[in-house]
Amino acid sequence: MQAAFWHEMWAGGVVGFHQQEINRFLRDFWPQLELDGQGQVLVPLCGKSLDMLWLRELGHDVLGVELSQKALHEFLAENALNAEPVQHENYCGYQLPQMTLLCGDFFQLTPQDCAQVKAVYDRASIIALPPEMRRDYAQHLQKILPLGTPFLMVIMEYDQSAMDGPPFSVKESEVRELFAEFTSIDVVDEEKFERKGNAVTEKVLLLRP
Ligand SMILES: C[S@@+](CC[C@H](N)C(=O)[O-])C[C@H]1O[C@@H](n2cnc3c(N)ncnc32)[C@H](O)[C@@H]1O
Repeated sequence: MQAAFWHEMWAGGVVGFHQQEINRFLRDFWPQLELDGQGQVLVPLCGKSLDMLWLRELGHDVLGVELSQKALHEFLAENALNAEPVQHENYCGYQLPQMTLLCGDFFQLTPQDCAQVKAVYDRASIIALPPEMRRDYAQHLQKILPLGTPFLMVIMEYDQSAMDGPPFSVKESEVRELFAEFTSIDVVDEEKFERKGNAVTEKVLLLRP
């Protein structure tokens, strides 16, 4: 999707993807990565996700990256958080205790930015992108992350011909292909529901080296 699409969504308050509660899959399955609240977690395409607060509460440092300045403003305002402007040559954004929020294009993120990242939380991130961008997304992540960085990823599978994205249908097989260097990609939970009359399966994947 083009940046303009997302800026329009945020400007119009069309943010149905935002969850008012901590994601259940995160709560239930993050412990399986056995990080013990240690190290920095990258949250690509983070929106104003409350899950970042949960990860921080657990002890992690959080690195969120988001195109929309409005999303980050809302995150701070709605959670009564104080922040300093971030010092970064490519991004504007905010610095908080144990949390860095970069405002700009995820694809500008460098290996230096991610040098301390120990895990990735992808909820509504890869599925926000159309097919050709998903390949770039996966390749970029593998270029910038320390080798073997594990992921918790939530995807949605449905008949793409029946309904347009975002959220796009991303099949488990596509994740296995895009992230082929992981020795283990496990589906740890799935949930079925209907969206606009179409059957959707949400799957929770743990990607581990
Ligand atoms: C579907 S939302 C999901 C947000 C968040 N992960 C959540 O669970 O609420 C996708 C977000 O990605 C942001 N986004 C889209 N393309 C981006 C890019 N290239 N770089 C950074 N953020 C991007 C959008 O502005 C939007 O907030």
